[in-house]
Amino acid sequence: MSNFEAVHQTPSKTSEYIAYNITQILKFMLNIFYGTKYAKRAVILETIAAVPGMVAGMLNHLKALRRLRDDEGWIRELLDEAENERMHLMIFLEVAKPTWVERTLVLLGQGAFLVVYTLLYILSSKTAHRVVGYFEEEACKSYTEFLEKIENGEVENVAAPAIAISYYKLAEDARLMDVILLIREDEAKHRDRNHEFADAFENNDLPSHQQ
Ligand SMILES: [Fe+2]
Ligand SMILES: [Fe+2]
Repeated sequence: MSNFEAVHQTPSKTSEYIAYNITQILKFMLNIFYGTKYAKRAVILETIAAVPGMVAGMLNHLKALRRLRDDEGWIRELLDEAENERMHLMIFLEVAKPTWVERTLVLLGQGAFLVVYTLLYILSSKTAHRVVGYFEEEACKSYTEFLEKIENGEVENVAAPAIAISYYKLAEDARLMDVILLIREDEAKHRDRNHEFADAFENNDLPSHQQ
């Protein structure tokens, strides 16, 4: 049984509109290359998705050190998010092998995204978390479409990759669909937590290192 619930936060404030539009522009660009190639799309998506948690984790870590204050668990959670996204990437690499063009795209994409996201986090951590909240909403949609393609037979429900079986402790006969259901649950968790982090900035309800 899946605990997944599709959720969308309607933007109502300037920072939310900015975050939402950044997400839509990136989605538009991704669709140009990988409209319906879901496994390939997942590879690219996950290389981007694994960046914000590490950047936010590092910046919060440095801030806690600078200010000599407790982070109330934020740093661990952000770093765990980054690791979880990297494992998603490792899983999809066993399903779709990237070409050298895609590897170049990933390289350039990471360079640009790392700089932009780091600057955004420094300028407005609230907007940066909101961006991830919206990214994750899109990731949930993308994996829902992926699952539909498997259900209607357009994509073969192959055996689950070995790395996914060991990461999620699945049965040996698990299929790709079982894995994507769990990945989508992870994305929904990231979505909810990042919207909550953004809300914490919005409501000034922050751990002591951020005050
Ligand atoms: Fe992911
Ligand atoms: Fe995610």
